[in-house]
Amino acid sequence: MRFSTIAAAAAVASIAEAQRPANTSVCDYYTTALLKNNTAANQYTVLTLLVNTVVIGNYTKPNIPGITFPDVAVPGILAPGTVNGTKVNLLSFFDGSLASSNRGGSSGVAVNFLDDGGAAPLMKNLPSNGQTSNQYKLLTHLYQFFGTALGCSQQGMTAFPAYQGVASQYQVHKFMALNYAEVSYFIQNVGLAAASFGVAMPDIQAVATTLTNVFDKRCGPPTAVIPSAGPVLQSICITEDCPEAANSTCSSYAAVVQPSAANGTMSSNGTSSGNGSTSGGGSGTSGGSSPTPTSSGSSGSSSSTTGAAPRNAAAGVTVAALAVAAFFL
Ligand SMILES: *[C@@H]1O[C@H](CO)[C@@H](O)[C@H](O)[C@H]1NC(C)=O
Ligand SMILES: *[C@@H]1O[C@H](CO)[C@@H](O)[C@H](O)[C@H]1NC(C)=O
Ligand SMILES: *[C@@H]1O[C@H](CO)[C@@H](O)[C@H](O)[C@H]1NC(C)=O
Ligand SMILES: *[C@@H]1O[C@H](CO)[C@@H](O)[C@H](O)[C@H]1NC(C)=O
Ligand SMILES: *[C@@H]1O[C@H](CO)[C@@H](O)[C@H](O)[C@H]1NC(C)=O
Ligand SMILES: *[C@@H]1O[C@H](CO)[C@@H](O)[C@H](O)[C@H]1NC(C)=O
Ligand SMILES: *[C@@H]1O[C@H](CO)[C@@H](O)[C@H](O)[C@H]1NC(C)=O
Ligand SMILES: *[C@@H]1O[C@H](CO)[C@@H](O)[C@H](O)[C@H]1NC(C)=O
Repeated sequence: MRFSTIAAAAAVASIAEAQRPANTSVCDYYTTALLKNNTAANQYTVLTLLVNTVVIGNYTKPNIPGITFPDVAVPGILAPGTVNGTKVNLLSFFDGSLASSNRGGSSGVAVNFLDDGGAAPLMKNLPSNGQTSNQYKLLTHLYQFFGTALGCSQQGMTAFPAYQGVASQYQVHKFMALNYAEVSYFIQNVGLAAASFGVAMPDIQAVATTLTNVFDKRCGPPTAVIPSAGPVLQSICITEDCPEAANSTCSSYAAVVQPSAANGTMSSNGTSSGNGSTSGGGSGTSGGSSPTPTSSGSSGSSSSTTGAAPRNAAAGVTVAALAVAAFFL
């Protein structure tokens, strides 16, 4: 794969001069590089920026002295895309138009996850407008899940709670019948979002490889992602076209059932919806003012940790985007 050679050139666009030490997690390393103080609150801010960008596409360049963020276009998973020539559109899994969510029953139910402001609060670095919605639950669970997956050392505090969701991502996604292009599109957006915040290519590659092996293969063996939960089934890609995982255990997985279209009307609690109006789609189109993360602390002392490279950032980033794309092709 040409990835490694391209990645070396792309590393120019990284925010961190030095390579991440092996004993420092991706979360801790980039929280320190971006916001100086490796606190739970700052880790939460970084995960919010990352996940919101994965969901709605690039919407902000944080205003942090000394750091020039690269220009990387991230479509976001709510926007349609193409993976290897296959069209992907994940919106119907989020807007309540498919009965594809696992609420604990034996079949999928329709849930509108864009029921609390859609993209607008995400563009303000928030999960949702309120704190009782499906949208709030989904987004905060994503921050928590990726925080654990990326090794946030301070997670578990009030400012950044431990993962509150179901540990088995197979259980969470099993009524979605997601295929290889669909899960790959999600991972591709994670890689692009990370690149847009200056994460170095070797770190993006490592994260993408883990996400691919654990979630984008069918029949995966029980794997511990949330350490306290122990090994549980994690395959999100479950259709026949998904590559088979190493040490596969296909008999542990139920037969794949395609989700049906929901046909009810939107209920007041937003659980069952037919063709509910959603405001989620689009990749951050309303280009208002760029919000900046409210990093507690980080009073602008540009120290060596952020000795970023404005040098030829534009060129570096085109290469970075290409490298991310090439990696997934
Ligand atoms: C990581 O390793 C370096 C050098 O071996 C050491 O100085 C540093 O204290 C270690 N950091 C942690 C968090 O263990
Ligand atoms: C997203 O990134 C692309 C490439 O840098 C840029 O052209 C576009 O304006 C950005 N979109 C937003 C909403 O910031
Ligand atoms: C597969 O199982 C073998 C034997 O238990 C183990 O050594 C190996 O690490 C496993 N591979 C993966 C990818 O889990
Ligand atoms: C849609 O309506 C049909 C007929 O009322 C019903 O059988 C089916 O279960 C409904 N589907 C969903 C996903 O609600
Ligand atoms: C939400 O609406 C669904 C469908 O009408 C219903 O089954 C569920 O009990 C409701 N939940 C709450 C918390 O009201
Ligand atoms: C949903 O609503 C839109 C806009 O009103 C309409 O174009 C579309 O056909 C509807 N889809 C379904 C499945 O009813
Ligand atoms: C880092 O966090 C500590 C503890 O919350 C605080 O005392 C200190 O002022 C913070 N430093 C910066 C640079 O924000
Ligand atoms: C894209 O196509 C290549 C070559 O056929 C294949 O190796 C790769 O797995 C495909 N990737 C996806 C995400 O479909």
